[in-house]
Amino acid sequence: MAVKYDEQQKIFHIFSKNTSYVTGIVREKYLTHLYWGKRIREYHGSRSIVWKDRGFAPNPDDTDRTFSLDTLPQEYPQTGNGDFRSCAYGIRQENGSRISNLEYAGYEIVDGKEGLPGLPASFGRDDQVQTLYIHMKDPAAGLKVRLAYSVFYEADVITRSVVFENASGEPLTLTKMLSMSVDFREDDFHVLTLYGAHNNERNMDRRPLTSGMVSIESLRGTSSPQQSPFMALLRKDAGEYQGDVYGASFVYSGNFVASAQVDPYRNVRFQMGMNPLNGDWYLKPGETFYTPEVVMVYSDHGLMEMSHIYHEFYQNHLVRSSFAKKPRPVLINNWEATYFDFNEEKLLSLAKKAADAGIELFVLDDGWFGHRDSDTSSLGDWVTDLRKLPHGLGQLSEKIHAMGMEFGLWVEPEMISPDSQLYREHPDYVLHTPGRPCTLGRGQLVLDLSRKEVCDYVVESMARVFKEGHVDYVKWDMNRHLTDVGSAYFPPQQQGEITHRYVLGLYDIMERLTAMFPQVLFESCSSGGGRFDAGMLYYMPQTWCSDNTDAICRMKIQYSTSLVFPPVTMGAHVSVTPNHQTGRVTPLSTRGYVAMSGNLGYELDLEKLTSQELEEIKEQIAFYKSIRNTIQLGMLYRNENPFESNTVSWNFVSKDGHGAVAFFVEVLSPAAAPVRILKLKGLDPDALYKNTKDGCVYGGDELMYTGLSMPLKKQDFRGECYHFIKM
Ligand code: GLA
Repeated sequence: MAVKYDEQQKIFHIFSKNTSYVTGIVREKYLTHLYWGKRIREYHGSRSIVWKDRGFAPNPDDTDRTFSLDTLPQEYPQTGNGDFRSCAYGIRQENGSRISNLEYAGYEIVDGKEGLPGLPASFGRDDQVQTLYIHMKDPAAGLKVRLAYSVFYEADVITRSVVFENASGEPLTLTKMLSMSVDFREDDFHVLTLYGAHNNERNMDRRPLTSGMVSIESLRGTSSPQQSPFMALLRKDAGEYQGDVYGASFVYSGNFVASAQVDPYRNVRFQMGMNPLNGDWYLKPGETFYTPEVVMVYSDHGLMEMSHIYHEFYQNHLVRSSFAKKPRPVLINNWEATYFDFNEEKLLSLAKKAADAGIELFVLDDGWFGHRDSDTSSLGDWVTDLRKLPHGLGQLSEKIHAMGMEFGLWVEPEMISPDSQLYREHPDYVLHTPGRPCTLGRGQLVLDLSRKEVCDYVVESMARVFKEGHVDYVKWDMNRHLTDVGSAYFPPQQQGEITHRYVLGLYDIMERLTAMFPQVLFESCSSGGGRFDAGMLYYMPQTWCSDNTDAICRMKIQYSTSLVFPPVTMGAHVSVTPNHQTGRVTPLSTRGYVAMSGNLGYELDLEKLTSQELEEIKEQIAFYKSIRNTIQLGMLYRNENPFESNTVSWNFVSKDGHGAVAFFVEVLSPAAAPVRILKLKGLDPDALYKNTKDGCVYGGDELMYTGLSMPLKKQDFRGECYHFIKM
């Protein structure tokens, strides 16, 4: 039992291995938040609500001026009746009223967890997860709301989502429908968010909560590189390995909002959900609306433990693909090697070199279809360009397979180029608002995935291509954001639904294609890591982390991505120097170490390398294969933070504790250089470990507490790597 209802106190105690979450019913109808944090055995009411008559706080019951929704810690706050803080949901009735009062209407506790129709969601067996449903109702509006809390006891995770039902005889518009709202009666927090841009995804922003609201959002139609759908509240003293951390990660790939609001009495309201701006939903009588879910993680051992909980949870309870637990192949991608300028001969000679080096998967990137010699044409025309591939995709794939490699293909199915057969035949397939011009992005337009026939076109054309190419791997790209959002196929009152309908259309497409091609490894991409979110991971077990392949930048991007997502979900490639994004020249070894810390790939013209470089790459690949399980299926430990330090280090330990790999990078070579010490984490202190390179033996305690002296080298961007086997 991970959920208990105490009839006497009228409280629900939800608990996992190390976390308790307590909510209760006040005055028979108000659902109030009481506690989220370290596991307690039972809640006896210690953190009682202290009632006080506060200025400007309206009173639903005039006989008691100490009771106000404006000061009550609420579980799913409404609007219009005295709580002036950020509401969790909003409605508009046909009579124009935007007020809503939710009252408690009962509960259910069930073993297991239901899926969310049309949406990605975490899953677990009945003995792994239990769900509490709290029913609420607004009789005046005929609205029913069901709050779902699923608790994964061993995984130490609680998920929240909400269902709205229009139980009235009239249509009702949902104007806001967040998935999570938590009222902390404390304010000593920092807020951590991940912001960025194309080529510079997921920088860490940690700031104190003072007054007002810290809010991040996406209005781009996708989760976006600008802000990731993640927010954490941290105690001010919390760090990587100590302190309280509360994480919220959204399992959704569209517009979102996350916020932390401090009220005048120093309470903090922590919220996450779909973005209400341009995000209405018109609910006809009898209809329901499901919100996506938020994955909530609490740890009292800092960010690293929070990350470990997310990593394990997403691998075990979110990623559906059979690849979740399988080693991922070392790949070569021709994009930075050739861009659009290739032909069959060039690809085959690149593939030959790759096969010789031990690479296992050849990925043909953009430019193989229509007449796409640049990014100005052909999206939507998924027909092989016979000028470049005169024998067709099937034959190219056959030749690659004959070299002992798998074959992978790049597609960008959600898009349409104005210069395409598809656009000429179906200009109406484009997401647009009649009477307004369509805005181009990277020279392309977006397909209207809110329409079933457009989704069908995407599924049919992709299925045809995947079959023709006998593909083992697909890189699913998405290179612009949504503008001019509208769909001629929905009435005016439903135009606010189109952004969400787009995401639902995308999920439907991915649901169908992943079911049709279960043996295919899908990698999601959006100009790099622009749509690196938990929603995509449900369908596609890995994501291209960033178009920025510079090892020094990548250390930061991969570090902060690992706050939420496991290294096995990150595509990471070795590319050429000077690097195409930064112009930086870094040693091949360092490029290798950074790319090896995710799913290793190569993205450069092997034919232009010296035989010495090729030999080094061969060695890198052989080494990576020997440590692949430790990296991809093991535990990551972040040691020194690249955002704060000139030296960066991290290590992996295999699940069985047998293997450990440690990496160290000194970014700039200092004069009068101090000798740096690399301290590993996560080892068995009582065991002995042997360095596989020089045979030296050290204690686990020694490697963790005493540490290894790093050699002095007069070289910028140099890296070191150590592989240990437990004896
Ligand atoms: C995006 C991807 C790149 C590459 C190009 C091709 O930018 O992130 O990796 O596939 O598109 O156009």
